[in-house]
Amino acid sequence: MTTVSHDWPSYIKRIAECASADALGLIEHELFGRKAGLLTLALKELGSLDADARRTAAMDLNQAKKTLTESIDAKRKELMSPSNDALKETDGIDITMQLPKKERGHLHLIPQFIREVEEVFGRMGFDTMSGPEIESEDMNFNMLNIPAEHPARDAQDTFWISNQQPFDKAQDRPVTSNQKLVLRTHTSPVQIRYMQSHKPPFRAIFPGKVYRKDADATHSPMFHQFEGLMIGKDINLANMKSVMITAIRELIDPNAEFRFRTGYFPFVEPGLEVDMRWQGEESESREGKWLEVVGCGLVHPNVLRNCNIDPEEWQGFAFGFGIERMIMIKHRIPDLRSFYEGDLRFLKQF
Ligand code: PHE
Repeated sequence: MTTVSHDWPSYIKRIAECASADALGLIEHELFGRKAGLLTLALKELGSLDADARRTAAMDLNQAKKTLTESIDAKRKELMSPSNDALKETDGIDITMQLPKKERGHLHLIPQFIREVEEVFGRMGFDTMSGPEIESEDMNFNMLNIPAEHPARDAQDTFWISNQQPFDKAQDRPVTSNQKLVLRTHTSPVQIRYMQSHKPPFRAIFPGKVYRKDADATHSPMFHQFEGLMIGKDINLANMKSVMITAIRELIDPNAEFRFRTGYFPFVEPGLEVDMRWQGEESESREGKWLEVVGCGLVHPNVLRNCNIDPEEWQGFAFGFGIERMIMIKHRIPDLRSFYEGDLRFLKQF
């Protein structure tokens, strides 16, 4: 019967004087702990009282419980408030403080687009491979059936790494003259690398940087392409057209307008070029309404032969997309140079 008449007001005083949330928690436990809390025990003891005593005691206890709970809640609120000095001294962390948001970067729009390309072609069953940006003259030209007099080799176009012949250490002599090095002028040499290391049938794409001596609003000395290659027993021009159209519709615009023209590339026969309608202001584009975005065609038998693939048994197509061109059309970007200037006002839009 003793606990029932505990000195509850002294607890109210202790609660009010509490300096930290920890101390408050201890008092709360002392009172309301499930096993030995004073109030918990007192409430239990009610059962052993006779009816009259129980009624008054119960009323007193419930009143005490209510007052104590309320003062604990009020104290806790006070201790947690950001303006509370005690909080700063004891708990140290102000959980209500607003910190400036950290800025997060993101991929540049070109690698972003390349990921989309890999995804779209991946769904059509295409593998991905990359090749070196410094290639031999042999890989960049000869193996692709590009004769020495082809304009793509012109000094206006190609960055030759050096006129000196590279030295073959193992053989202790200079490498033969067709091993002169160039910054690759297209991603087509990766076709050769792929065909030399894989057995048909296959389909694959090869994204990467390419280099040409060119600079204006729609040409840059370094730009990106992705090459594609699909070889099988009976792969034909209709298959190629359907892959081109699917890719352009998926990557740029489901309503894209394009046109196929014949075009000459020594490593395909027949060869085609695909133009897309330029959606920006006509005056913004040097080339008027159409921009060439793809070169493509059926792989030339000489190229297959160069890679030890029998053209009587295997055939297929190859294509090369200009990545910046595609993005320019997709987002109506008038000047190619914005891609490389590193201006955040431009880059943050993508
Ligand atoms: N390599 C060609 C270019 O850079 C594009 C191309 C690739 C054309 C594959 C036909 C087949 O212009």
